[in-house]
Amino acid sequence: MSPSEQIYERAKRVMPGGCSRNTILRKPHPVYVKHAKGCIVTDIEGKERIDFANNVASLIHGHAHPATINAVGEQLQRGTAYTVGTEIEVSYAEQMVKRCASFEKIRFVNSGTEAVMSCIKAARAYTNKPKIAKVEGSYHGLYDYAEVSQTAKPNNWGDIEHPARVPVSQGTPQGALDDVVIIPFNDTVRAIKILDEHKDSIAAVLLDLLPHRIGVIPADPSFVKALRNWATENQALLIFDEVITFRTNYDGAQGSYDVKPDLTAMGKMIGGGFPVGALSGRADIMDVMNPLNGPARFPHYGTFSANPITMTAGKTAMEWFNQQAVIRLNKLSDLARSAIEEGIKISGVSACVTGAGSMFRIHFKELAPTNYRSAFINSDEQRYLATFLDHVFDEGLLMIETGSGLLSTAMTSAEIDQMADIMLGGFRKVKALQ
Ligand SMILES: Cc1ncc(COP(=O)(O)O)c(C=O)c1O
Repeated sequence: MSPSEQIYERAKRVMPGGCSRNTILRKPHPVYVKHAKGCIVTDIEGKERIDFANNVASLIHGHAHPATINAVGEQLQRGTAYTVGTEIEVSYAEQMVKRCASFEKIRFVNSGTEAVMSCIKAARAYTNKPKIAKVEGSYHGLYDYAEVSQTAKPNNWGDIEHPARVPVSQGTPQGALDDVVIIPFNDTVRAIKILDEHKDSIAAVLLDLLPHRIGVIPADPSFVKALRNWATENQALLIFDEVITFRTNYDGAQGSYDVKPDLTAMGKMIGGGFPVGALSGRADIMDVMNPLNGPARFPHYGTFSANPITMTAGKTAMEWFNQQAVIRLNKLSDLARSAIEEGIKISGVSACVTGAGSMFRIHFKELAPTNYRSAFINSDEQRYLATFLDHVFDEGLLMIETGSGLLSTAMTSAEIDQMADIMLGGFRKVKALQ
């Protein structure tokens, strides 16, 4: 048995599935990390891989980013969490509020799930309405309401005129399902018709502008504008989930749109490698968490929220992710997407690549998907994807199980060339199966 197999045998005895997050699982067993630096992860068997997973989009500078590690090292000596404020929380909040036009006030939490949940609770408290609307198939973390229909399948997703409310976890209360309205992505006419049916009870419309699980296809500006107008006309809020997409521009994916959300949920990269979430937006809405003028309408706490380790790491990482760094990373990502397209062409495989900013996703489909239903991976495509992902993993690339990848500032064109070579081999293997 290899060292990784031995650890996994121990892991299965003490954790369901042998882990605390299903993301690490691989067949026949996961591998375990020895160390990681920049864009290279080395496992305990000594195999090196270029990291296009970046802890599911959370590492913008790769691993062990020197400036972040130094700043965190100093803070560690002074303590890790107190029941007393820290100036670093305030200076990081100041930095973030300056970064994006829709950010007037901000609060930090510990995960993207918590950020989305807090946005929804703030919206309910502000509007005094119970329901949220979300796009079919979009992933927003584990909160009961936010996860509805994230894993809908052809046999249960229902009519496109009224997509079904499909629970993810068994036992999700019917009450939670009843308070979620599902709309199709980039389909303005149908979406508005569905929203109109619930217009007196919707607190917020929740939207990811470049949704990973829907296929990393950008939201159409006219769709976003229509949702903005609908929310304004119906006293509902527009929430952007930028947990992943904040890396797209200096001021998030919203920087590419002529629309301001009322609230934005963030997480992942803004923690500089540590657990984080944040919600930010209009001051009058954020003030539902303000306890200074009587009981807050949405009382908001969190033992590790804004802990100084996360604040130090996040502030440092975001300082380094300045305008120039964003431009350089996005150019490198354009190069990566072109190299993938080239590999698809040379191999003759039936596949395509989507993406924007520093994200890409490979689909084993002739045509790029346009919504969750067309992005859905059928059983043949699942087989092609598994073959491709096994190949690239064995040859030295880490990617996300959906066929997605994200770049980090630690990468250069040399890593993109290596990626292209390895992927070409994977495309050829899939072509032989098609
Ligand atoms: C768009 C989006 N929202 C929310 C979340 C939840 O974030 P976390 O895993 O930090 O709870 C994720 C996680 O992948 C995400 O991709």
